[in-house]
Amino acid sequence: MFETYDRDILRIVEPARVASTINPRLGIVGGGQLAKMTALAGLQLGCDVVVLERNNFSPAANLASHSLVGDWDSPEALVKLASQVDVVTLENEFVEAASLRALEEAGYQLHPSARSLALVQDKFTQKQTLAAAGLPVPRFEAVASPAEVEPAGARLGWPLLLKARRNAYDGKGNATLQSAAAVPAAWRQLGGDRGRELYLEAFCPFAAELAIIVTRGRDGTSVSYPVVETVQRDHVCHVVKAPAPLPAEVAARAADVAQRAVAAVGAVGSFGVEMFLTHGGEILVNELAPRVHNSGHYTIEACLCSQFENHVRAVLGWPLGATAMVAPAAVMVNLLGTAKAVGHPLGLERALAVPGAHVHIYGKAMSGPGRKMGHVTALGATLDEALATARRAAQFIRFGPHAA
Ligand SMILES: Nc1ncnc2c1ncn2[C@@H]1O[C@H](COP(=O)(O)OP(=O)(O)O)[C@@H](O)[C@H]1O
Ligand SMILES: [Mg+2]
Repeated sequence: MFETYDRDILRIVEPARVASTINPRLGIVGGGQLAKMTALAGLQLGCDVVVLERNNFSPAANLASHSLVGDWDSPEALVKLASQVDVVTLENEFVEAASLRALEEAGYQLHPSARSLALVQDKFTQKQTLAAAGLPVPRFEAVASPAEVEPAGARLGWPLLLKARRNAYDGKGNATLQSAAAVPAAWRQLGGDRGRELYLEAFCPFAAELAIIVTRGRDGTSVSYPVVETVQRDHVCHVVKAPAPLPAEVAARAADVAQRAVAAVGAVGSFGVEMFLTHGGEILVNELAPRVHNSGHYTIEACLCSQFENHVRAVLGWPLGATAMVAPAAVMVNLLGTAKAVGHPLGLERALAVPGAHVHIYGKAMSGPGRKMGHVTALGATLDEALATARRAAQFIRFGPHAA
């Protein structure tokens, strides 16, 4: 039987070394799950994708024409990426804005801009920018030494949040201080004693946490998605409910705040706006993410055009898509790692047997405690119905430990 086999078919085709020159080419700095879902949306629209990551095994790598392996913060690596694509965009806010300026100075298209990144990636600068634009934010203060915390606490009130200005995510840069006694340990824990810049925020005893994705085009026009409720446990998002169960007046105010916040930093692309709803019905901006956001993953199945597709459209200068939901309610449940283990899911087949559950597995090589490994979205006639479906599927999935 081997005689009939055409040996020429059996060869490993080298991946294309350069993206096509005909298709729009999107360069993404970072190759995690956000890049993966953005790449999928880009591929759907006929784009080629090139990823810059620190290793060659990122979730987005096998969707890309090719990956560049290098340091995001190196202007040389960024310029190399930019020289191979039409537009560079970002999947995280940690890339040095100063390095990104090198791209712009060399005449490459970068969206969002280095200026937007600079305004957002330092949470203290971000709060100053939002406050200066008249947006409601929790009270905050700069703090340069542990000794300055106690007098600030007298002004802001206890408890207080001590926060890292940069490179924080999933609550890893935050410490809640109940009293001055907690200051030395928290200062050390967040790296203040090693020169990491910190700041203080008044604790906001919120009634709910809300979020909105706003996509802003290169021409400044923007669209916003429904306001959602996000449920955090240990500072990590566990559940997103869309739309948030709110009076229409509150939802409209949240949408207005989100649109103004995103405009205040000159956003281009999909941005996540995290907000607190106080017990008095006030909306305060917690933080912006200058990128697609976990609170918008539900938009893949639940909205006419997802946050990822709209991000691609925005950065390429294309018309933005409609954001309306296609069902009365949607719920997303994150699949978080519980232990350091291989990133392969257990229980996937049982989850897939749940009708209406949309399962996403990010394909990360390794899982870790609290690490975002995937998510499940379900639509429903009510939030309760969607939540029940999403939970029913999510409960089956575990990321290790695997039997030997
Ligand atoms: N000022 C605050 N008051 C009360 N809770 C807060 C405050 N700031 C943050 N949190 C809680 O911590 C979570 C993570 O904080 P956030 O500043 O958004 O950091 P990260 O960058 O890790 O998302 C928030 O979603 C919220 O639950
Ligand atoms: Mg946050």
